[in-house]
Amino acid sequence: EMAGGEKVDYVFKVVLIGDSAVGKSQILARFARNEFSIDSKATIGVEFQTRTLVIDHKSVKAQIWDTAGQERYRAVTSAYYRGALGALLVYDITKRQSFDHIPRWLDELRGHADKNIVIMLVGNKSDLEDERAVSTEDAKEFAEKENLFFLETSALQATNVENAFQTVLTEIF
Ligand code: GTP
Ligand code: MG
Repeated sequence: EMAGGEKVDYVFKVVLIGDSAVGKSQILARFARNEFSIDSKATIGVEFQTRTLVIDHKSVKAQIWDTAGQERYRAVTSAYYRGALGALLVYDITKRQSFDHIPRWLDELRGHADKNIVIMLVGNKSDLEDERAVSTEDAKEFAEKENLFFLETSALQATNVENAFQTVLTEIF
């Protein structure tokens, strides 16, 4: 496969999951196009974007899938997870409930995805430190217990977004 005239050595599917409004679509916009929108609309169904990057001298096309956090807008679950090699499991550091729901998302992920899927727990909106409702320590502890990678990100400030995807893609590789 060719991308911009360059040869693509690998295509890796990565899925974004987590409650509505945690920032999944803006994390993707930041990664794929280096864009951010404050009045982001709730996702309906499934969207995806790609970005090709070089890992270990190989051209890797990341195909990132994004779906609705809201149950009523979600697409067929099994199709969403099929073939996914990586996942970003996202909560909002200012919304305790979005973190409390992480075990449910993890169950769904583990129930549908490949057993070797690389999972990154992502605490988004790290720019809103004054409104923090989930401590870094709590999240780190959960991630260690569940064998997940963990990072706090800000799609707004472009903090750790690149790092989160790079870590997952490199680990898949
Ligand atoms: P669904 O599509 O409904 O599942 O939501 P989502 O997880 O895709 O959330 P979305 O990316 O649409 O972002 C929801 C709101 O949070 C929007 O107003 C975004 O601008 C805002 N937002 C996303 N990321 C950040 C961030 O890092 N910091 C701040 N302050 N706001 C953010
Ligand atoms: Mg969305």
